[in-house]
Amino acid sequence: MTRIAIVTGAARGIGAATALRLARDGHAVAVLDLDEASCSDTVAAITQAGGRAMAVGANVADSGAVQAAVARVTEELGAPTILVNNAGIIRDNLLFKMTEDDWDSVLGVHLRGAFLMSRAVQQHQVEAGWGRIVNLSSTSALGNRGQANYAAAKAGMQGFTKTLAIELGRYGVTANAIAPGFIVTDMTRSTAERVGVPFDDFVAHSVADIPVARAGAPEDIANAAAFFCSEEAGFVSGQVLYVAGGPRA
Ligand code: NAI
Repeated sequence: MTRIAIVTGAARGIGAATALRLARDGHAVAVLDLDEASCSDTVAAITQAGGRAMAVGANVADSGAVQAAVARVTEELGAPTILVNNAGIIRDNLLFKMTEDDWDSVLGVHLRGAFLMSRAVQQHQVEAGWGRIVNLSSTSALGNRGQANYAAAKAGMQGFTKTLAIELGRYGVTANAIAPGFIVTDMTRSTAERVGVPFDDFVAHSVADIPVARAGAPEDIANAAAFFCSEEAGFVSGQVLYVAGGPRA
């Protein structure tokens, strides 16, 4: 069955791969990112493959922008019942060097963003008596040097997900989280840059600790998201799936 999906942070990386995958599964997809123009590659890839998509510019941490974005999607594509809260940023620093802005901006995009988007979309899900919410956590939720803000946000996503599962289950809505390990995207590229290591070396170093002996690709996460969003996954809710090529972060 065709549903209307919103994927945040879908201009590139994991969000773009997830938007493409959901479109391939037959859904109409709102490709949401900070800047509407940045969504055009993802939208073009979907439409060229025969799918339906629209670009939406919005900052997920801005309540007014979120409300306007969800209203626009509802008008132009239809009432959204699938939501993937994927938008994310990193502002890594050791605790003693971490600024209040580093803290607030990371918590703002991940947690406040997922909260605002979920609150806006749940009304359509409840009306439809069906819905899927997928939140992007991370193996960093278990703790990661230099990421006190990000680890707190990603652990927070897990508690948020479980609570949505409890509150919304009776309306046919499931909520699950994916905690990716090392995935090759602009985000991991910028981490390599920050620590001053060539990206290939950075990847090789990370892969040395991954049992399946390769780095993750955005599609690895998109595949897991597609499962959680499927009709068949209706009895799977409140779960955190680590997609990291092995059992440990
Ligand atoms: P990325 O940096 O390639 O893409 C993130 C996208 O989010 C960008 O297009 C960016 O413009 C958008 N975005 C940032 N702030 C936004 C805001 N306020 N409103 C709307 N859009 C916003 O990152 P990547 O690697 O694709 O990550 C996607 C998600 O997966 C993030 O939540 C990230 O924390 C998570 N993740 C990534 C891992 C990795 O190894 N790449 C590992 C674990 C989790």
